[in-house]
Amino acid sequence: MPLDNGRTARGSSLKPTLKPNNPNFSSGPCSKRPGYDLASLPTVSLGRSHRSALGKKLLARVCEQTARVLGLPEGYLVGLVPASDTGAMEMAMWSMLGQRPVDVFYWESFGQGWRADIEQELRLVDARFFEADYGQLPDLAQANPDHDLVFTWNGTTSGVRVPDGDWIAADRQGLTLCDATSAVFAQQLPWDKLDVVTYSWQKVLGGEAAHGMLILSPRAVQRLESWTPPWPMPKIFRLAKGGRLIKDIFQGATINTPSMLCVADYLDALDWVEAIGGVRETIARCDRNLAVIERFVASHDWIEFLAVEPATRSNTSVCLQLDLPAASVKRMTALLDEAGVARDIDAYREAPTGLRIWCGATVAETDLEALMPWLEWAWNEVKN
Ligand SMILES: Cc1ncc(COP(=O)(O)O)c(C=O)c1O
Repeated sequence: MPLDNGRTARGSSLKPTLKPNNPNFSSGPCSKRPGYDLASLPTVSLGRSHRSALGKKLLARVCEQTARVLGLPEGYLVGLVPASDTGAMEMAMWSMLGQRPVDVFYWESFGQGWRADIEQELRLVDARFFEADYGQLPDLAQANPDHDLVFTWNGTTSGVRVPDGDWIAADRQGLTLCDATSAVFAQQLPWDKLDVVTYSWQKVLGGEAAHGMLILSPRAVQRLESWTPPWPMPKIFRLAKGGRLIKDIFQGATINTPSMLCVADYLDALDWVEAIGGVRETIARCDRNLAVIERFVASHDWIEFLAVEPATRSNTSVCLQLDLPAASVKRMTALLDEAGVARDIDAYREAPTGLRIWCGATVAETDLEALMPWLEWAWNEVKN
């Protein structure tokens, strides 16, 4: 093997002794925050109606505290909706698309899923699709500001993110619909460039799945109040009635019954974000976590980022390629799992073979540092 910091790679196969305190590096549901304790969640709302005064107060807090912690611009609305990020994204597409042409940019599995919705389910004829392979971004400069725009901020299955929102026109006529589920709380989002943003609690905050968050700009609200799509709209997707936004959804009156346990868990996560210093700190944590892996990759020639351009490297879903056949990568991740040092770090099933290590804010930098020598050990085990 080539030299690696003066050692042969073969020579560094001693089994490390230090293990990550928390081996959960899954990309969703993601690790609970440091210090998380299910037993200390407030249970006062359990067994109570979500329409009770208490239930409504907690659900309204979900909306208000999210807006405050994220620093949303005045006039932006936050709603809690069913069916996780998928539910939020699909209800937005079903409710808002069709009024004008749409440009869809995608570069991995979930974005491809939004394309399929638009092409095969909504069957929008006036749609343009811009695709890139795993590891790359499509040519974002092709976005037409008169068209609606659908894209994923951080491609969770390729570890490729858009570096910024400079390519989105400030004076656009179309709406931007952005699936940001693995970016919110981890990456700086240019809210004024985003009309619809969706995410779920189970990603960067390590919350529970099944509940989706839908953030709307005033222009998105205007669309909801001025456009009635020609297709049927299930109750579970309905955001407007009689040409008016159903405002209550954005004040805690959910469309259907949420889990109040999951709500308590999310509020706990939001409190944690505020306690550690807000979104500035959660972003910084993700950046520091990515830096741990960047240092490791820079000093080992058998491992590479799937993201080709450094500026597009995700600081949450970090996807890595190895110089190993698929079966050996599987063996490697099995060894790491058996050793109790890394759970669920296989690449996504539709993505190129490799590793995907979650670096979101709930993952401790020290745990990633402890994991790195284990990667080297496991690679040596399967390589030799
Ligand atoms: C970019 C992206 N979009 C959508 C989803 C689907 O999210 P959910 O399962 O929360 O609906 C995921 C899940 O990993 C994702 O990473």
